[in-house]
Amino acid sequence: MTAQKRGLFVVLEGGEGVGKTTNAAFMREYLENKGIEYSATREPGGTPLAEELREIILAPREESMAPMAELLLVFAARAQHIEHKILPVMEQGQWCLCDRFTDATFAYQGAGRDLGTSRVEALESFVQAELRPDCVIILDAPVEIGHQRARARAELDRMESEAMTFHQKVRDAYLARAAQAPDRYEVIDAALPLVEVQVNLAKVLDRLIDTWKNHE
Ligand code: TMP
Repeated sequence: MTAQKRGLFVVLEGGEGVGKTTNAAFMREYLENKGIEYSATREPGGTPLAEELREIILAPREESMAPMAELLLVFAARAQHIEHKILPVMEQGQWCLCDRFTDATFAYQGAGRDLGTSRVEALESFVQAELRPDCVIILDAPVEIGHQRARARAELDRMESEAMTFHQKVRDAYLARAAQAPDRYEVIDAALPLVEVQVNLAKVLDRLIDTWKNHE
């Protein structure tokens, strides 16, 4: 019997209000139409316990959360998610389509909260061992656009209600990470009309599908 081919680990990232939800739905439908089996999940969250941690991480409250506590909670949720969802999904040969992963930690906690890259890198190695996404798709738009969209939507959570300088640091960090490893990142201009964004997303998915199918 041949071993099951491992599924791809594809992550969708971006700042607030860049259209992640709409485009994640587009990606799911696209993969379905191409006959790719996948499981869609998100961070923080993705399992019942990790979703409870998400509530704690994002709920506005009177007591301010220490940045280090935020960082550790995000990685606690991730440890649970990796063991109970991400790895089993990929081992079954399905793709794991994840709405945010560790690039969000580099962007929000590392840059936004000024905790720095090396602490996030240390936890990344500790919690994830060798696990890294096969591809990270970053939806990118100027922070003013994203903020307007997020504000129009609903009540803002703890991250969304941060100042514009915070969101600018988040955006810059995503772009810097993409520039450092262009073979693993795809930056998509999310300020373009939605149809154009989705044409570009489809191109990325087609390329991933081709590579995956042709790889032993
Ligand atoms: P969203 O996925 O619905 O956009 O919301 C998740 C929020 O959590 C978003 O503001 C980014 C934040 N976040 C972090 O701060 N660090 C992380 O590591 C992750 C995965 C998300």
